[in-house]
Amino acid sequence: MQEVLEKLEAARRAARLGGGEKRIAAQHGRGKLSARERLELLLDPGSFEEVDMFVEHRCVDFGMDAQRIPGDGVVTGQGTINGRPVFVFSQDFTVFGGSLSEAHAEKICKIMDRAMRVGAPVIGINDSGGARIQEGVASLAGYAEVFQRNVLASGVIPQISLVMGPCAGGAVYSPAMTDFIFMVRDSSYMFVTGPDVVRTVTNEVVTHEELGGAATHTQRSGVADLAFDNDVQALHEVRRFFDFLPLHNRSGPPERPSYDDPERECPALDRLVPSNPNKPYDMMEVILEVVDEGDFFELQKDYAKNIIVGFGRIEGRTVGVVANQPMVLAGCLDIAASVKAARFVRFCDCFNIPILTFVDVPGFLPGTAQEYGGIIKHGAKLLFAYAEATVPKVTVITRKAYGGAYDVMSSKHLRGDVNYAWPTAEIAVMGPKGAVEIIFRSEKDDPERLAAREQEYRERFANPFVAARRGFVDDIIMPRGTRRRIVHSLRWLRTKRLENPWKKHDNIPL
Ligand code: HXC
Repeated sequence: MQEVLEKLEAARRAARLGGGEKRIAAQHGRGKLSARERLELLLDPGSFEEVDMFVEHRCVDFGMDAQRIPGDGVVTGQGTINGRPVFVFSQDFTVFGGSLSEAHAEKICKIMDRAMRVGAPVIGINDSGGARIQEGVASLAGYAEVFQRNVLASGVIPQISLVMGPCAGGAVYSPAMTDFIFMVRDSSYMFVTGPDVVRTVTNEVVTHEELGGAATHTQRSGVADLAFDNDVQALHEVRRFFDFLPLHNRSGPPERPSYDDPERECPALDRLVPSNPNKPYDMMEVILEVVDEGDFFELQKDYAKNIIVGFGRIEGRTVGVVANQPMVLAGCLDIAASVKAARFVRFCDCFNIPILTFVDVPGFLPGTAQEYGGIIKHGAKLLFAYAEATVPKVTVITRKAYGGAYDVMSSKHLRGDVNYAWPTAEIAVMGPKGAVEIIFRSEKDDPERLAAREQEYRERFANPFVAARRGFVDDIIMPRGTRRRIVHSLRWLRTKRLENPWKKHDNIPL
């Protein structure tokens, strides 16, 4: 017996070493943690239970039969984050560059299947040279098995990708189909074709970092949600993020004790909106005042900054927040903002997270770049997402709600449950200046008269009362009472039941 135990311990030791101390040191030398160190930081201490530690590849080509490393380049299993279950895989770059073999893929699929069966999220840590070149099509098949599971799990359990090293070629499509992607600055990159191929095909000279680094994907492409300075920060933040997420699509948002008074007034909000309608203010102040303890986890903060999305809590329960940001592009909706917010709204709806919307939107961004880029189709995504969402929807119009953008931003007409307006709200087809220039075009040479018309229009339409008289806003509230009113609304909405008509799936304008 003793002999067997020693043999087992020796086998475990060998598996834990992965590609060996030298390669682990090289990994550290690049500022990266090893696959196991990452899991130690991600999960609660002592909670990780590894599976398939002894799995090996079955390849015999190119001398691979002489190189078998237990675990085959990915550490898989389950554990907890702040006591809640999660399934994880962490690719080990020290073993064949973390490349994906058939056996490696089977390990990932096994924990995805388990997660689906029990209803718990999956977090994947990607650090891989892609398909195991020696295995050829078997490895491609392995990727496709993972992709298929990503799709089936979408909307059933939350899926999070941490990209902490290379992620190239078709391999990028697994993270791309998960709900959230987090990257690490200077040590991770994602691209479909690398710099060498790019140079050959297009003559563009570009570095790995420029082509697919964290800055590129969090600022330009919008592929990734956030970038962190190093592995430790990334893993720490993902633990914080995880606390906002439900375990699965039937569990409802997680609840935790809140010490923030639900009746708390927010007097600072009374002074927030400037009297000059063309002057911006920071919508983030509204969000931070309203959510519990000012704790807000913003996503995609460096991309499409004209709209803010992220998670907060009200009375300890997660809410998804969407808010126009008047500080950037005056809060206009453009292609990037529409797509960013639409995806977020859909995530919330999949996972029964109420949506809190703050509106200050002068309209869709005009211009050929937007029209040629398909703002019609992309703007429709946000409209579609809000309209199909059946979760509780509470909306507060702080200032402008003009034109089509008024309709889009969780209006009453898209089954908004509770719609409030601040006294500063201006709900109209367009701003007073633009409006009089159109309807009083014949008076354009008389600036005095036009100014009077503008004032008249402002008094008549640029206020919340016209909408309130029709019931399109439920009430005009004092900014200081915003948190209290939201708390009360979400309380009674907890038992909301609303279903869309049966369909195989919808046809959102992609
Ligand atoms: C097998 C691989 C590998 C791979 C790396 N290694 N990638 N082994 N299959 N795909 C091995 C290397 O041989 C090396 O082994 C070790 O991992 C570390 O690699 P290095 O090259 O020394 O590391 P580094 O200089 O940091 O470069 C990392 C890298 C590079 C940029 C990822 O290794 C690379 O370009 N790899 C190939 C990437 C690639 O073309 N993959 C296929 C993409 S297509 P030793 O023994 O020397 O330590 C694809 C299709 C997916 O993935 C399709 C899905 C549908």
